[in-house]
Amino acid sequence: MQKSILIIGACGQIGTELTIALREKYGAESVIASDIREGSESLMSSGPFELLDATNYEAIEDVVMHYEIEEVYLMAAMLSATAEKFPMRAWNLNMNSLFNVLNLAKEKKVAKIFWPSSIAVFGPNTPKDNTPQHTLMEPSTVYGISKQSGERWCEYYFKKFGVDVRSVRYPGLISWKTLPGGGTTDYAVEIYHKALEEKNYTCFLTKGTKLPMMFMDDAIRATISIMDADGDTLKIRSSYNLAAMSFAPEEIAKSIKAHIPDFEMSYEPDFRQAIADSWPSSVNDSKATEDWDWKPEFNLEKTTKKMLENLKG
Ligand code: SER
Repeated sequence: MQKSILIIGACGQIGTELTIALREKYGAESVIASDIREGSESLMSSGPFELLDATNYEAIEDVVMHYEIEEVYLMAAMLSATAEKFPMRAWNLNMNSLFNVLNLAKEKKVAKIFWPSSIAVFGPNTPKDNTPQHTLMEPSTVYGISKQSGERWCEYYFKKFGVDVRSVRYPGLISWKTLPGGGTTDYAVEIYHKALEEKNYTCFLTKGTKLPMMFMDDAIRATISIMDADGDTLKIRSSYNLAAMSFAPEEIAKSIKAHIPDFEMSYEPDFRQAIADSWPSSVNDSKATEDWDWKPEFNLEKTTKKMLENLKG
């Protein structure tokens, strides 16, 4: 099946792998990658690319019209740790980019949108374990506030204007192809690089900080599968909880030690500890399972094996 897809923020941690996966599925020429900067050589040479500012409505509209785009994946965002440093820039990027794609869909210029939300929508008063889909939220970070507001706007545009927007609340994402940037869960990627390069890692979160996490292959599969789902089965148009595994820093260290016995980890928590402390330890994703058959494939052991294999090169 042929369709024209635009990925905004294609050079980031998720965007890179999503672009590759969608190009494999729909053909390289059907998937237009775009970002505010150029990406890796392999991404740039694998199909069409446009330099694009996600906050510029007219620029996005031009690309959408030129390529007759039907679906947009909006992956550009400022993540939790960076957003605490630049609150207004984060709000501007995270919200205006979303309004741009929602309004394009409202104007019937595109048919379907994917927009990622996050476990950051939850806050310190949310039940921490097995966090339900519908619960008290009260996010306490700039990033979380932008994601929760975004969720409300997605549902509003769906109900009010019939905009076909689909979303999942990603946990921390672990991947080897492109580094994450500016997130609180980034430690779970850095640790593999440092384990291989230096056999030690100083973690910016402390022992016992258990967070929901997911290997990128699962995240990409979830993203494509909610976009492929029959719209009538999707009862949630804010964003679905999504889960795979949960672990604390000492547990990921232990799983690495099983492969690299002399690996050592120390702890020097910084301002990101408070962000992590405000998020759930684990989330309940039974609605995603019920509505579109979601099931994760990677646990911590499988993830560690894949990360070390691939990073070793
Ligand atoms: N991984 C993100 C972050 O740490 C959460 O969505 O900011």
